[in-house]
Amino acid sequence: MQKVLDLIKNPSFKIAILVFVLVAFSAGLVGIYFTQIPPEQPILFPHNRHVNLQIQCLYCHSGAWKQASAGLPTEQKCWACHGQLKKYFDPVVPVSEWPIELQKLNDYAVNNKPIKWVPVYQVPDFVHFNHRPHVAKGVACETCHGDMSKKTVATLEQTVNMGWCIDCHTKKSANDPVLQAKLLDCGTCHY
Ligand code: HEC
Ligand code: HEC
Ligand code: HEC
Ligand code: HEC
Ligand code: HEC
Repeated sequence: MQKVLDLIKNPSFKIAILVFVLVAFSAGLVGIYFTQIPPEQPILFPHNRHVNLQIQCLYCHSGAWKQASAGLPTEQKCWACHGQLKKYFDPVVPVSEWPIELQKLNDYAVNNKPIKWVPVYQVPDFVHFNHRPHVAKGVACETCHGDMSKKTVATLEQTVNMGWCIDCHTKKSANDPVLQAKLLDCGTCHY
């Protein structure tokens, strides 16, 4: 026991602890920093240009109002439009002169290759998140995902942690003790 106390009083041991804490802390910061960088996507999909054409979020993420997962569009969903647009715009422009991201889309679509979009928002497996009750109660996509009319690919606007869920659930049910009990019950979000 005395040895341990001596060790703790030893100045170089204190420095070692300090260094350890600093390293752990900056590792935490690096972690946060990396999660803010959007992952590289197979196609740089411009949300801004599509959302500004008044194409509804639910057209591409149609799961959001009916099920847990919002879903991501397939290459055929994109092609339903772009396959038409290419004729409509200029049938004689060869594919090799299209904007590069549309050349990629063309390659996926005509070869029936699924586009492997990289997930941005994710809760761990032991958490149960369901879009439907949120969308049904009028919580706007923007509240959780930010203003997509100003973005190209999706970025993480909100660190998805338990505090964030609980905070909003507490506010939304402030006047209704029964609802509050349900929204704050561990079993509502954890199986
Ligand atoms: C409902 C029709 C529609 C759907 C569905 C659609 N797009 Fe588009 N997209 C357009 C239109 C119209 C433009 C041109 C918009 C502009 O000029 O601002 C466009 C522009 C683009 C551009 C920019 C091209 C350039 O000029 O640089 C890319 C890339 C693109 N779309 C990819 C996709 C992908 C990938 C999907 C599927 C996830 C998709 N689009 C689904 C209508 C659509
Ligand atoms: C209450 C906050 C909240 C609202 C409102 C919300 N989302 Fe989400 N969204 C999330 C969370 C959390 C995830 C991660 C879910 C997971 O990992 O299962 C997610 C994931 C997604 C994904 C990834 C793919 C998938 O299948 O889940 C898409 C796309 C998406 N949301 C689109 C939308 C759209 C479109 C709307 C509006 C119609 C919307 N979200 C409304 C919180 C929200
Ligand atoms: C024309 C199709 C299209 C429309 C319209 C569209 N999106 Fe997306 N969305 C995509 C594609 C493709 C991706 C995958 C690439 C990426 O992450 O940016 C995506 C990704 C996302 C993600 C990240 C999903 C993840 O993996 O976590 C969110 C959140 C999202 N969209 C929200 C919205 C919202 C909100 C709207 C309406 C304001 C909207 N989108 C409109 C095609 C679309
Ligand atoms: C911006 C506010 C907001 C955020 C953030 C939010 N929720 Fe919710 N949540 C709601 C509202 C509103 C309801 C619907 C309450 C009702 O039925 O009136 C709801 C309902 C739910 C339900 C359905 C409860 C039931 O059994 O009917 C689940 C599950 C849920 N949320 C999980 C989550 C999880 C997990 C997160 C975090 C990843 C989260 N929510 C973040 C507002 C939010
Ligand atoms: C509204 C949704 C919601 C409710 C209610 C909720 N949790 Fe969570 N919980 C989450 C989310 C989302 C995560 C994953 C993100 C994180 O780790 O913060 C999580 C993570 C956890 C973790 C893992 C923490 C970690 O650091 O890995 C534990 C343990 C936990 N919750 C316990 C509970 C207990 C106990 C209750 C009831 C008192 C509860 N949760 C209620 C949403 C919820």
